[in-house]
Amino acid sequence: MAKIIAGVSSSHVPAIGAAIDNKQTEEPYWKRVFSGFEKSKEWMAQAKPDVVILIYNDHASAFSVEMVPTFALGCAAEFPPADEGWGPRPVPVVKGHPQLAAHIAQSVILDEFDITVVNKMEVDHGLTVPMNLLFGSPKEWPCPVIPVAVNVVLYPPPTGHRCFMLGRAIRKAVESYPEDLRVVVFGTGGMSHQISGPRAGLINSKFDKAFLDNLTKDPKKLTRIQHLEYMREAGAEGIEMVMWLVMRGALEDKVDEVYRFYTVPASNTAVGHIILEPHRRAAKKSAGKAKKPAGKMKRAAARAKTAVRRSR
Ligand SMILES: [Fe+2]
Repeated sequence: MAKIIAGVSSSHVPAIGAAIDNKQTEEPYWKRVFSGFEKSKEWMAQAKPDVVILIYNDHASAFSVEMVPTFALGCAAEFPPADEGWGPRPVPVVKGHPQLAAHIAQSVILDEFDITVVNKMEVDHGLTVPMNLLFGSPKEWPCPVIPVAVNVVLYPPPTGHRCFMLGRAIRKAVESYPEDLRVVVFGTGGMSHQISGPRAGLINSKFDKAFLDNLTKDPKKLTRIQHLEYMREAGAEGIEMVMWLVMRGALEDKVDEVYRFYTVPASNTAVGHIILEPHRRAAKKSAGKAKKPAGKMKRAAARAKTAVRRSR
């Protein structure tokens, strides 16, 4: 059966993509940002997922404001990079996984989670920047990607709680897929930032760090944050953080935080990143449970032997 082996979240700042494309990653300003993802790339090279499910938002590239689905699932065989005004980014075409995507569509919709099925879609920096941060800049992406687009650009976006529950539904779908696939779920966007208006440039590190803490320890607390609180504390575009809750909902309640990185600013945005894995002690415990009967049986056999010797 397929299983989710980890969750990863990261900001998807477009200027990070431009820094990669313009070969500025070694410049001191950008080195500070990219150095925070070196360990993550090592982790990903070891994790070697078979599929990535990547939660992101489209920035009027695939969906204009004329039609914005709240949740959209990419079921196509491939997703070319979108032209965001400077030509498509020089990154590989994203290969999809139509079979698993169709299974997720069926599972979540029959689970009463009405997601939009998208069979043709270009993907913008919201998806390609996190791919670069976690996989570097290879000629081909090392695994298929299933894009899940969330509307956080046109009011009203979904609540954090709804996003968390979508993650739960995605986990149920993945765990009922018969092929042995190792899946990593990405939540992208954020962290605090506001790109226009009198509060442009807003960054709230205290809010961001508390969000990261609770993402690991108490995600249900985060599901109660209302839109206005995101706006007030994290800026107008800080609402993107609800997409991290899709990733968190796709994981078990208890997780181990294996890596975290936070720096400010990149362009005018706080950059946050976290890697979460299923809780190891829980995994050991369930393995231990399987061994217990064997131990009990051995002790019972030893007692029986003693009883036999005594009776002789
Ligand atoms: Fe964004």
